[in-house]
Amino acid sequence: MPDTRLDDLQQAHIRQLQKAYADILQQQGYDAVLISSGAAPVRYADDQYHHHQGYGHFLHWTGLAGIEHSWLLIDRDGSARLWLHTPVDFWHATAEIPAEAWTQLIHVEGQAGTGVPEIAYPERLAVIGDPAQINTVKGQVNPPALLAALDHLRIYKSEYEVECIERANAQAARGHKAARDAFLNGASEFAINLAYQQATAQREVDAPYHSIIGLNDHAGILHYQHYQIDSPPRARSLLIDAGCRYRGYCSDITRTTAAPGESRFQALVNGVESLQQRLCDAVAPGADYVELHHRTHLGIAALLKAADLVTGLSEEAMVDKQITRAFFPHGLGHFLGIQVHDVAGKPRPSPEHAPALRLTHRLEPGMVVTIEPGLYFIPSLLPPLLNGADGQHLNRPLIDELKSCGGIRIEDNVQVTDSGARNLTRPYLPE
Ligand code: GLY
Ligand code: MN
Ligand code: MN
Repeated sequence: MPDTRLDDLQQAHIRQLQKAYADILQQQGYDAVLISSGAAPVRYADDQYHHHQGYGHFLHWTGLAGIEHSWLLIDRDGSARLWLHTPVDFWHATAEIPAEAWTQLIHVEGQAGTGVPEIAYPERLAVIGDPAQINTVKGQVNPPALLAALDHLRIYKSEYEVECIERANAQAARGHKAARDAFLNGASEFAINLAYQQATAQREVDAPYHSIIGLNDHAGILHYQHYQIDSPPRARSLLIDAGCRYRGYCSDITRTTAAPGESRFQALVNGVESLQQRLCDAVAPGADYVELHHRTHLGIAALLKAADLVTGLSEEAMVDKQITRAFFPHGLGHFLGIQVHDVAGKPRPSPEHAPALRLTHRLEPGMVVTIEPGLYFIPSLLPPLLNGADGQHLNRPLIDELKSCGGIRIEDNVQVTDSGARNLTRPYLPE
């Protein structure tokens, strides 16, 4: 059945892009910009290709994540023309020319070859894409000022984009529920990943990032990249950080589950959960994301104190002495959109005490951010703390008891609205 509401939103989104691109091209003195979809490179010394997920500028207009060797030309009046790669090929399926509502605004035609469409280009042409794939095109390749303006545009999501991110959340939420059930039934990391894929009806390569699925101590590896085939003898915890793509737009959700009987770890999970909810509630226009990150550290300090993991120090001292940083070494979150770590997050550099922070904006309506506090027992970060000047403040027996639970992260996707915020994850995944 046609989704006319989404079609209408998409057309409004494209109209906004047409106007914004026209303004930027005129301001910067270009007649047109040619945008490459990109294409997966071949693996070194092999005849197999990497998997392609589309580049941001191309997806901003089309949402066509799996398309390669295609080209989009935007004129200085905002009119758009798409050449979709439609080779005659008996090895692979060929893309169909779409018959969707957005093609009323973007003229689409097929092209058998992989090269730049052979048309007469205007004189002042900018070309955007992977330099290795566009370096023979006559035009200004990836001009920095143009890229900066187009990246800035992506900070403010249209209603259509927020709807796509919300649908990507609904889809991923089904996977998170299935993953939790699988864990509670004793599944391995590998089997939990299968349960996630089954429930989301999404191939792993099409996900916005490699799903992070860690049992026990693997939950303490921030971007754990493997799946153990066998279940551990005693499963104590699950951390799953996994998302979906919907029409090119990403969700990025994390949940942590304590096994039944893990009451101490469960108490910490509850503490991170309530901190995470307070931080989500603090998202609003004007809120300074760097300040929210600092507030997260104070919240982690309060949890460490309440759990008796750190004793004899005030919360501020724990932050100043960088004790909280050993337990929470990443940033509070980032922009989310076409890319999981969406562009233009840092108008100012990350502060010295938070080098991993990917977002330093004061929040504004239209932004979509993640809120993802964590508390981990990371083998490489704890010994310097335990053996350093503040080692006497750390509860070693308790750390030893909890470290094989790995860690906790809880992550939602949040839209900044005119008056506050809207959580795009919780309606689909309340806990
Ligand atoms: N999934 C990676 C992240 O949360 O940033
Ligand atoms: Mn994230
Ligand atoms: Mn994540």
